[in-house]
Amino acid sequence: MNDIGKDRYTSYADKLKAEKEAFDGIKDVIIYGAYNYFIKKFSAANKKHVNSTLIEDLLKSLPKQFIEFFIIILFVLFSFFYFKFDDSFSNYFITISVFFLASYKLLPISNKIFLTLQLLKIKTYGFQQVYNEIMDGYQNNKTNTDNETSFNNSLEFKNVSYRYPVGKNNVLDNINFKIKKNQITGIFGESGSGKSTLLNLLCGLIEPTNGQVLIDDKPLTQMNESWLKQIGYVPQNSYLISETVSENIAFGIDKENINLDLVKEIISKTKLDQFIKHHGEDVNFLLKQDGKNISGGQIQRIAIARALYRKPNLLILDESTSALDYETESEILKLIKDIKDITVVFVTHRKHTLNICDFVYEIKDNTLVEKKT
Ligand SMILES: Nc1ncnc2c1ncn2[C@@H]1O[C@H](COP(=O)(O)OP(=O)(O)OP(=O)(O)O)[C@@H](O)[C@H]1O
Ligand SMILES: [Mg+2]
Repeated sequence: MNDIGKDRYTSYADKLKAEKEAFDGIKDVIIYGAYNYFIKKFSAANKKHVNSTLIEDLLKSLPKQFIEFFIIILFVLFSFFYFKFDDSFSNYFITISVFFLASYKLLPISNKIFLTLQLLKIKTYGFQQVYNEIMDGYQNNKTNTDNETSFNNSLEFKNVSYRYPVGKNNVLDNINFKIKKNQITGIFGESGSGKSTLLNLLCGLIEPTNGQVLIDDKPLTQMNESWLKQIGYVPQNSYLISETVSENIAFGIDKENINLDLVKEIISKTKLDQFIKHHGEDVNFLLKQDGKNISGGQIQRIAIARALYRKPNLLILDESTSALDYETESEILKLIKDIKDITVVFVTHRKHTLNICDFVYEIKDNTLVEKKT
């Protein structure tokens, strides 16, 4: 009974954890295509939770059922012996009484089973709805983009304006710029000027209100899976799941399919090896959600490692080195600069970091202005 209680408790916690992690990091989940990873995690915990709940409820109700069953047996035996000496009442009466009593007593438990099944149906329905809604976006775009999105030459913003559905004014107004493949582009601007919004447009997470984002001169469709697969995105607020370092780096990939050699290579490049060793651990070092057991800089390096693991065509960094000390930041920037065949779009507040860029832009008064490097 103790084990079942524990199973029920832990599976419920795992279920909530899978839900919370998936929605907390929805941007990473979308870009890294980690839908199935979280659905599998949720389904496994949900199945365990339903099973342990059913068993626990059954076991809880057993003593009561035993007593009721015992009373019914007594009643039957009593009636049997009673009427054996006086058959003026027929067996019919006994049978009816027994059936009546049995069904009366079975009513609450059958109600409970029925209610549990209903509950299960209702909860599955809710989860299914959210899942369908997310997947619909994907499927629509799969049919929209008949071919793979190829990026061999350039990315371009052509007369792009964007206004949030709830906003009155354009956050970005008539933006025009072109990035050639394998260039490093830096963007800076005041807080709230629209830097993250521009990156969301570049990923195709949102669509321009006006104008077009072009990849090799072809308009980018929203939530384009083929394009998202080519992007390594380090968001402004890095997020971790409470799993091992390797699962956090190979994000969305089942444990058994992780390329551990690649994980180790990236760990060493992003200087994560020293801190893992410091904890006396290896790639299986268990992280806590929101990185409660590591520092802000270490969280950022894991997020950078996550982006590098997928060997992206386009690497997007949104204030991704802001929590690093000067020395570590310089090392990471050098690492990024030295990667071959990668296009980088780099948003920062720290102007000194812009010296790795081929081109620098400032977002000012809702538009983009080129700055000398
Ligand atoms: N989801 C949203 N809905 C409505 N308005 C939004 C939304 N996200 C951002 N905004 C608004 O759009 C503007 C640009 O926001 P954005 O996050 O792109 O700025 P930012 O330059 O990245 O700022 P920071 O440097 O602080 O990260 C802000 O005024 C912000 O309030
Ligand atoms: Mg931002």
